[in-house]
Amino acid sequence: MSLTPSQVEAYRRDGYVFPIPVMTRDEAASFRAKLEAHERAAGGPIAGNLRHKTHLLFTWANDIARHPAILDAVEQIIGPDILLWGSSFFIKEANSPAYVSWHQDGTYWGLDGSDVVTAWVALADAPVESGAMRFWPRSHTKQHSHTDTFHDNNLLSRGQEVAVDVPEEEGVDVPLKAGEMSLHHVLLVHGSNPNRTNDRRIGFALRYIPTRLAQTKADDFATLVRGQDTFGHFSHEPSPSADLDDAAVAAHARSMGAQVAALYEGTDKTEFRA
Ligand code: NI
Repeated sequence: MSLTPSQVEAYRRDGYVFPIPVMTRDEAASFRAKLEAHERAAGGPIAGNLRHKTHLLFTWANDIARHPAILDAVEQIIGPDILLWGSSFFIKEANSPAYVSWHQDGTYWGLDGSDVVTAWVALADAPVESGAMRFWPRSHTKQHSHTDTFHDNNLLSRGQEVAVDVPEEEGVDVPLKAGEMSLHHVLLVHGSNPNRTNDRRIGFALRYIPTRLAQTKADDFATLVRGQDTFGHFSHEPSPSADLDDAAVAAHARSMGAQVAALYEGTDKTEFRA
């Protein structure tokens, strides 16, 4: 078992739990090195749609998404039959203005339940000054309305902000070391500030759901990472056999099309903007 009973209880009560060590610093550094090898070859930070559902494109990202230590903790939260619905890199470059407004993740996802957990895995140290996430404890018990801002420095898909004033003094900082993760509930209000350090802040956010959930806005895709899927609500995605090979790129494009249809319903967006 990965989480203690009191950690599971804290997740249910507060909407989050951290820090959870899931890999060694060396292992995290080796994943970071693989990401940055791609970035060097591509000539810049991982960008556009490559930042999302990255586990379909790169074998190393698929390995993170299926990491036993991550899945052991997730299983304690949502049970043994687990789909990975999404993955996203949230990278803040050193000394950069990128931030994330206070928001709830599930607002535009179209999933028909809130039993959705995000594992935010740190591939580099994420101290408070790097713009670590901030959580608003116990805010996961209701859906709040949001306003779309599409603000340039906001890393979120629509720049969405929760339409309530979050008392800043109630925000809890979520510093993580490389190789640690946090878990948070899909309705937990959270955000983060700019990175004021000289290193990149690199988080890989994995969105896990129990197989019983369904997508209400589109024919959608997900990756079965543990257990059985007796519901068939999602078409299952293949694992990449080589980084960015034709089959992986095609599977990724198909899945991204479905997620863009769901996330940007009611707008004219045709791809992820950040
Ligand atoms: Ni979020």
